[in-house]
Amino acid sequence: MTTRIRLGVNIDHVATVRNARGGARPDPVRAALLAIEAGADGITAHLREDRRHIRDEDMARLKAGISKPLNYEMAATPEMLEIARRIRPHACCLVPEKREERTTEGGLDVVGQAAVLRPFIADLKAAGIRVSLFIEPDRTPIEMARELGADIIELHTGTWCHAVEAGQADKAEAEFQRLKAGATVGAEAGLEVHAGHGLDYETAERLASVPEFVEFNIGHFLMGEAIFVGLSEAILTMRVAMDRGRNAHR
Ligand code: PXP
Repeated sequence: MTTRIRLGVNIDHVATVRNARGGARPDPVRAALLAIEAGADGITAHLREDRRHIRDEDMARLKAGISKPLNYEMAATPEMLEIARRIRPHACCLVPEKREERTTEGGLDVVGQAAVLRPFIADLKAAGIRVSLFIEPDRTPIEMARELGADIIELHTGTWCHAVEAGQADKAEAEFQRLKAGATVGAEAGLEVHAGHGLDYETAERLASVPEFVEFNIGHFLMGEAIFVGLSEAILTMRVAMDRGRNAHR
């Protein structure tokens, strides 16, 4: 059966704009409420070690203020574990983090970090939090994610989206096939399969045709579109694109 794909809206960059001036506006919680009203199925926020966009109090206010699941993206550090245990989001998505990067540039090294991730994942699950791992769409990390006890994998779509944007048709097609194969491996391993990073209307529509994907997490593109058409309309248009992609598969 083909089901409707969930849209998680990442509101990090509302906080980026707010922090550019140091005040309270625009408020990421207001954006989250508006996103939900427009049809978002969940809200995603990344509390980075350097707090460059979302801050601790934003996470607490999001958890208290929204009616849909909160997906808390974070690095696997003791500080973040403590905050997650306190906030108790619906899910935590573990991502790699480097201070000097502009955004999350690759998947988590689940094989190299297995000894750290295994107890970390167990601690989050013991706190009643679902655990997602942001990884590359390859068999080895996917199987390791399952072995480590993750509930969800989020496949990194950045390389594919970048190739599409750059007009590199062959590379884009190869990356799409890699994502498709990864989604199959993940679903067969019993994992819930999500995707995110760099998705826009076009790429989200195409990827939604792969039935194993259950959720997309999308931020930067939607916030950019919101400047021109407003956040509600950007989310509605994304919703329609994802539904069209999913229905085209039937
Ligand atoms: N998923 C994960 C794990 C991410 O780290 C990000 C970026 O913060 C996203 C999804 C959203 O990516 P984008 O902002 O490019 O839509």
